[in-house]
Amino acid sequence: MSDRHIHPIFEKLLQREEREQRLGQRSKVIWLTGLSGSGKSTLALRLERLLFEEGYFAQVLDGDNIRSGINNNLSFSIEDRQENIRRIAEISRLYLHSGLITINCFISPTRAIREYARQIIGPEDFLEIYINAPLDVCESRDVKGLYQKARNGEIKEFTGIDSPYEAPEKPDLEIRTDQLSVQDATGVLFKFLLPHIEKRI
Ligand code: ADX
Repeated sequence: MSDRHIHPIFEKLLQREEREQRLGQRSKVIWLTGLSGSGKSTLALRLERLLFEEGYFAQVLDGDNIRSGINNNLSFSIEDRQENIRRIAEISRLYLHSGLITINCFISPTRAIREYARQIIGPEDFLEIYINAPLDVCESRDVKGLYQKARNGEIKEFTGIDSPYEAPEKPDLEIRTDQLSVQDATGVLFKFLLPHIEKRI
């Protein structure tokens, strides 16, 4: 694959630091991992709004959106989930070099898959945040009715039911959404994030 007459021009592009200066922030990739129904998208959207109101420039990438567009050819096998995450990590890396703060909400179920994303993005720019609610809580919320379908056998390879979820061992931050209100959880996220995204002086 390396010998395909491709000549990247990354070093000739306007540098990330200049873009960050213009935007008044430092770019990062905020990676929310957790079960379906744990609250990743809800928190990501709240955080995006809050950052925007505070003058930051952020963009949410969400599983259901990405899977209905660029990744609409991928299934939920472990191999396809890895390809899903690989593409998302590559997109996040482009955003990172555009100076943006990217908020990713993907189940990203295994440690290997998240490690893969971390390596693509670069460990210093990758913040792993575990959005944690116990399976029975996610299942009782069943916002999209998918757990019911998975239990009935209408959906196969559903995370937490018949496909694994490996919790992060050392996330940069863990949020228990069964113990915090949405507002409080967003506040915790924002406070955690500030020192990572504030402009260098
Ligand atoms: S990931 O495992 O590859 O990271 P991703 O976050 O993109 O998953 O997509 C998860 C979303 O797809 C869920 O929130 C849910 O709405 C939907 N979905 C459909 N089928 C499945 C399945 N078998 N397992 C998990 N989520 C599924």
